[in-house]
Amino acid sequence: PSEIESVVSRLEGLGISSPALYNIPSLNIAGNPFDLFRANIAKTLSEVSGVEADIIVPALEWTMTPDRGDLVIAIPRLRVKGRKPDELAAEWAEKYPSTPFLSKVAAKGPFMQFFFNPQLLYKLVIPDVLNKDSTYGNSKIGAGKRVIVEFSSPNIAKPFHAGHLRSTIIGGFLSSLHERLGYEVVRINYLGDWGKQFGLLAIAFAKFGDEAELERDPINHLFKVYVTVSSAQAAEKDAGAAAEAVLALKASLDTEGISEEAKADLESKLADAEIKAKQLAKEALAAAIVLDKNHPLKDEKDIDPAYFIPRPVDSEAKAYFKRMESGDKEALAVWTRFRELSIAKYTKTYERLNIHYTDYSGESQVSDASIQHAVDILQEKGVLYEDRGAKLIDFTKYNKKLGKALVQKSDGTTLYLTRDLGAAIERYDKYKFDKMIYVVAAQQDLHLAQLFKTMELCEFPWAKDMVHINFGMVTGMSTRRGTVVFLDTILEETKDAMHEVMKKNESKYEQVDNPDEVADLVGISAVMVQDMQSKRINNYKFDWSRMLSFEGDTGPYLQYAHSRLCSVERRAEISHEQLMAADFSLLTEPIAEELIRTLAQYPDVLINAHRNYEPSTVVSYLFKLTHIVSSCYNILWVAGQEPALATARLALYSSAREILKSGMILLGLTPVERM
Ligand code: ARG
Repeated sequence: PSEIESVVSRLEGLGISSPALYNIPSLNIAGNPFDLFRANIAKTLSEVSGVEADIIVPALEWTMTPDRGDLVIAIPRLRVKGRKPDELAAEWAEKYPSTPFLSKVAAKGPFMQFFFNPQLLYKLVIPDVLNKDSTYGNSKIGAGKRVIVEFSSPNIAKPFHAGHLRSTIIGGFLSSLHERLGYEVVRINYLGDWGKQFGLLAIAFAKFGDEAELERDPINHLFKVYVTVSSAQAAEKDAGAAAEAVLALKASLDTEGISEEAKADLESKLADAEIKAKQLAKEALAAAIVLDKNHPLKDEKDIDPAYFIPRPVDSEAKAYFKRMESGDKEALAVWTRFRELSIAKYTKTYERLNIHYTDYSGESQVSDASIQHAVDILQEKGVLYEDRGAKLIDFTKYNKKLGKALVQKSDGTTLYLTRDLGAAIERYDKYKFDKMIYVVAAQQDLHLAQLFKTMELCEFPWAKDMVHINFGMVTGMSTRRGTVVFLDTILEETKDAMHEVMKKNESKYEQVDNPDEVADLVGISAVMVQDMQSKRINNYKFDWSRMLSFEGDTGPYLQYAHSRLCSVERRAEISHEQLMAADFSLLTEPIAEELIRTLAQYPDVLINAHRNYEPSTVVSYLFKLTHIVSSCYNILWVAGQEPALATARLALYSSAREILKSGMILLGLTPVERM
């Protein structure tokens, strides 16, 4: 049977014969109760008002609070000429026939408010939620479409900073959301794994790297090696510059015929410069010796500050990277190993966040051929201009804010932007995506705008299907030990901190079988919810004590609400079959009505989140839901009630628990059953 036939027969089963329904493909009347009501209101109001149902459907909006109904329509949106909206609202509300779908239709100024019949909602929503388990709210709007979500994308041998954390959390959510809406989702991690610094890293590792450490903890070890070598390099550079300054002063002093006054001035400058050069040379030497046990200078006695000669690490690194770029097997093997060990470690950490990837790609994986292809197309379209052998795009012709960008350097080496061009082309060739989402910090707004514009200038028809989902900054994210942050460290520290919070409630703590695991899962929810609770673009401060609290709108609060619902279910011991046969006419309290009206919104919430790419849409909804559930506990008792009443109430609680669980999983959390 078609969708509409099955809905009609279901409604008939509930005693609604020949229901008025106006169905259009954009409505999901079988899976979304709000859409079912939209279909009904559009049909009936169309008959009452003579306005086309097609115009009514998109004008039906959510209300801010339940006292204004479940859906509201602003009459001016219906574009009826020659009549005052207030009058029309009053007239149509008056004429609106009574229907089993609605308990009330009210006119309020230029608005018409529609109140869903809660008895119909109980019968529609509860069995659906209990039967569908965590698939309630899913839809098929993405069926047959493929979306790429590129997210996290950290840089090897560099810290995993807050921007990567946010990208991971938001990208994980967007991937799951698209999957639930029927899309096929390709998850890509585009690693920062190419560039001169990998030559430096390889050389440094050969000099003082530690095999065992690399195997044990590749991400931290490579970072350590990189920091050591790059700070040694910086120290050398500073020492070199200071030494040059000394030489320059000496040369000036040697100039013939300078005045006594000028000479005195130069001499005093020289004395200062020598002190500075000596100090920097000492530091550079110390760093260089760490780097290279065979360093020819053993001791600071050997240093002549004026002639401190920087070691040629930089040119060695450049040469090494050149070998990598030209495909030298030996050079690539070292780097491949670093990359693979890092990926193995990342994979484990992402697992803790319920995140997995279709593809670990990266800057290194973009082929020369696709980069060249992109450059050729740009050349052909006349988009490029040359400047001293380099190739550039001048975007200012199209949009002042986009500036100019380098596409190819004079030595032919590639750039971040160019590699992104090649990567996008490859991804289209491989996946023929219908949409490609880049989850990247707002600091890179310009980069992505340039990338998208370039694809448009190449006239790729799919350029319009690229979306940048950006987000604001996190401040104050440092571990207890320091400011450099790795994902693993953040998660470990959160777990420990959560564990401490849990231990404060001794009697409860004793009842938890696996406190370590619970601390981990609840701690992770704290981090994730803190990140997703306000709009993406907002900055926020990483606040340990607030996010770990069980009170207020936090991850631990959601976990607590879920585990409490589980405990109500456990204690009631009522079977699924009994719940499915519950008599909902026993649910008469206003708070029960508020809860069912909220549960009915869930499928719409997913659609809204899909429209605005905002995890906060789901987070706010779950907080609203848990607040209502918490008010229910004072009124809707289950324990000690007549079996029929207990069953009806538990059916409502169980549905709330299913939706809470479904929403939490969608956000990437693992709901706990006891805590
Ligand atoms: N690795 C980059 C960074 O850490 C982020 C990559 C963003 N994605 C892209 N396609 N450019 O800054």
